[in-house]
Amino acid sequence: MPRHTKATINLDAILANYQLANKVAPNSKNIAVIKADAYGHGSSKVAQALEPFVPAFAVALFEEAVVLRNAGISKPILILQGISEPLELDFAANNNIWTMVENEEQAKLITQTQLKVPLNVWLKLDTGMNRLGLNSCHLKTVLNRFTNCRWVNDKIVLSSHLACASDLTDIMTKNQVRTFTELSENINLSTSIANSAALLGFPATRMDWNRPGIMLYGLSPFDEPNLQDKLLRPAMTFSSTVISIRDVKKDDHVGYGNFWTADKPSTIATIAVGYADGYPRHAANGTPLLIAGQKAHLAGRVSMDMITADISQCSDIKIGDTVELWGETINANDVARCAETIGYDLLTGVSQRVPRHYN
Ligand SMILES: Cc1ncc(COP(=O)(O)O)c(C=O)c1O
Repeated sequence: MPRHTKATINLDAILANYQLANKVAPNSKNIAVIKADAYGHGSSKVAQALEPFVPAFAVALFEEAVVLRNAGISKPILILQGISEPLELDFAANNNIWTMVENEEQAKLITQTQLKVPLNVWLKLDTGMNRLGLNSCHLKTVLNRFTNCRWVNDKIVLSSHLACASDLTDIMTKNQVRTFTELSENINLSTSIANSAALLGFPATRMDWNRPGIMLYGLSPFDEPNLQDKLLRPAMTFSSTVISIRDVKKDDHVGYGNFWTADKPSTIATIAVGYADGYPRHAANGTPLLIAGQKAHLAGRVSMDMITADISQCSDIKIGDTVELWGETINANDVARCAETIGYDLLTGVSQRVPRHYN
């Protein structure tokens, strides 16, 4: 029986989700965040599909931007973590790659590296997340440096990142927006603060530029179910096949560590996917699955290459039947909750041994 574990990526869904961002925030330029291989969807393919529609892309790392340039992507690419090597700065300036500056060392490196082509720079302000970003003193110093530097483009963007936007009731977002506004008030530069959750849920955060990521892939960015969730189309279907079926008696156990015990005579299907493929190792008994279109539940510990499901409630399941692990019917956020993690973790964790198919 061939192994049919795969991730099927619906590029039209990604485009529709991007268009939703434009509809919700029509007065902003919405950058498509495609770091971490477009959240596991394949950054080159996603960028090719979105390129005619987006003003720019964002990735975390310099290497991720190089992959996109090598794939023929020509729109600007913002590197969210910034650049720390002179050679990388030179490449960035020559290839319309924009860089985030979040500390004074990065700013110094830019002013000390003579560039022939002007570099586009975004400044990140720390508005309370305390992870990356300049404070108000650093901001003044860095702006002074850049104003006097010939090779820094004067179209600098001021940005920040939100710590709690996934919770619509958390006042942290309001506080961060206020701090950002105070810091940027007297500076006549473009601004950017919104990720997906902020773009969808906090109108005050929709500024000149937004940076939606997870919503492009069709997952809700919110902790609690939200009306906007219904408008998003999950873009990845992670699927596998049934490779074995057996009946077990009441009190029989299934899998490593006897992790599941039958409370009645049951039928178990074994499925050709495991944690080495990116199915979460910590998924609990009861995690939902869709087997041949019927709801079933994980029964037993996730192994490296296999999982087991209780299919006692299903009818006519056969070896070779298709299993949706997550996708349009089984939401990846629901699977993530059963594994005490988040949908981002599942999407970016689908491993390289899983082939991506595009439609
Ligand atoms: C600086 C920055 N902006 C935007 C995003 C996109 O966030 P999300 O995927 O929640 O929309 C991220 C993701 O972590 C980020 O680090």
